[in-house]
Amino acid sequence: MAIKKFQIYFLIFFASYGMLIPTRCLGNICLPKEHIALFVFGDSLFDVGNNNYINTSFDNLANYSPYGETFFNYPNGRFSDGRVIPDFIAEYAKVPLIQPYLFPGSQNYIEGINFASAGAGALAETHQGLVIDLKTQLTYFKNVKKELRQKLGDEETTSLLARAVYLINIGSNDYSVYLSEKYTQQKYVHMVVGNLTTVIQGIHEMGGRKFGVLNQPSTGCFPVIKAVVNGTKGSCLEEYSTLAKLHNNLLVVELHKLKKQIKGFKYSYFNFFDFSFEVITNPSKYGFKEGGVACCGSGPYKGYFSCGGKRGIKDYDLCENPSEYVFFDAVHPTERANRIISQFMWSGNQSIAGPYNLKTLFED
Ligand SMILES: *[C@@H]1O[C@H](CO)[C@@H](O)[C@H](O)[C@H]1NC(C)=O
Ligand SMILES: *[C@@H]1O[C@H](CO)[C@@H](O)[C@H](O)[C@H]1NC(C)=O
Ligand SMILES: *[C@@H]1O[C@H](CO)[C@@H](O)[C@H](O)[C@H]1NC(C)=O
Ligand SMILES: *[C@@H]1O[C@H](CO)[C@@H](O)[C@H](O)[C@H]1NC(C)=O
Repeated sequence: MAIKKFQIYFLIFFASYGMLIPTRCLGNICLPKEHIALFVFGDSLFDVGNNNYINTSFDNLANYSPYGETFFNYPNGRFSDGRVIPDFIAEYAKVPLIQPYLFPGSQNYIEGINFASAGAGALAETHQGLVIDLKTQLTYFKNVKKELRQKLGDEETTSLLARAVYLINIGSNDYSVYLSEKYTQQKYVHMVVGNLTTVIQGIHEMGGRKFGVLNQPSTGCFPVIKAVVNGTKGSCLEEYSTLAKLHNNLLVVELHKLKKQIKGFKYSYFNFFDFSFEVITNPSKYGFKEGGVACCGSGPYKGYFSCGGKRGIKDYDLCENPSEYVFFDAVHPTERANRIISQFMWSGNQSIAGPYNLKTLFED
């Protein structure tokens, strides 16, 4: 008797739930009507474990302790103590955590998928053979589209891809391997941004319309740079942000061009440069105790990329409370910093995320 009553409550609950949230069924899969998928491209800032499934080196892996100690409680490939930016954006967009594309087993691409690979660049030559470069990530997206069409048909796939948001962060690795003997700075930046825009156009040709793009952060403020050049003056080494600045100036121009050229193209340009500079140099304003020294690593500013002890240097220090730090290791933000970055990407004003913020792109 008690069980029957319980079943009735259950039925009523589902009946009313169904009425409150309009659903749209695609074959045998039903989704909320306003469902928006999230597709993620990029490097270690966004990688949620793709590199765990490729043949690579420890430089491009974070599947060992102490990575992942916060939130997930196990190392999972994210270059942070906990969640990374796409995890928070998924939360704000009310979609589940987006899985890594290479995760073994069958995947449901209806909520989107993450192609990002730590160490990857816009240029195929960057860490070639050890990462999934941006162009290959686009090829994987083409495969996903094929599978979606088989599952949902052409019309629903077109609609899903047009409403989806495409989050992209790339370039830092290209600049970290830059050789001034081979290319001038101008030429190199044009190649990186050129390959990035080519991939954005490629996603657009596949049906994508809404793009969230991060510019290059204030690299000269990163512990890894300060340690390597042995900086002792202040918290940032401006001259090491030159390539980032050139990249950002060109990226603004190219995105503006795409908007003019392509019908229906919408983007959110996140000014990661200014925002990272602001948080690193004013940590207490954002609730951090330390902006310029990493939580995990060794050497000056904990700027040697040794967190976890598997990249040549065995000894490293680990702070007690990562949430007090902006940087978890010498280059990657803590979970708490990722949350704050994501909040500003999501709802920041025009000076930080424009012409739209991500919230607007998702609601559109
Ligand atoms: C992985 O990479 C190493 C070093 O580059 C190479 O020797 C090995 O054959 C590769 N393994 C596979 C399965 O590709
Ligand atoms: C993309 O990068 C390659 C080098 O990997 C370069 O030769 C090519 O010119 C670049 N493409 C654009 C559009 O800049
Ligand atoms: C870093 O600077 C300190 C003090 O100026 C100096 O003693 C040390 O040798 C430098 N280290 C490197 C690796 O250049
Ligand atoms: C935009 O947001 C930033 C950061 O919160 C703030 O400092 C700035 O005053 C805001 N600008 C405008 C025009 O509201």
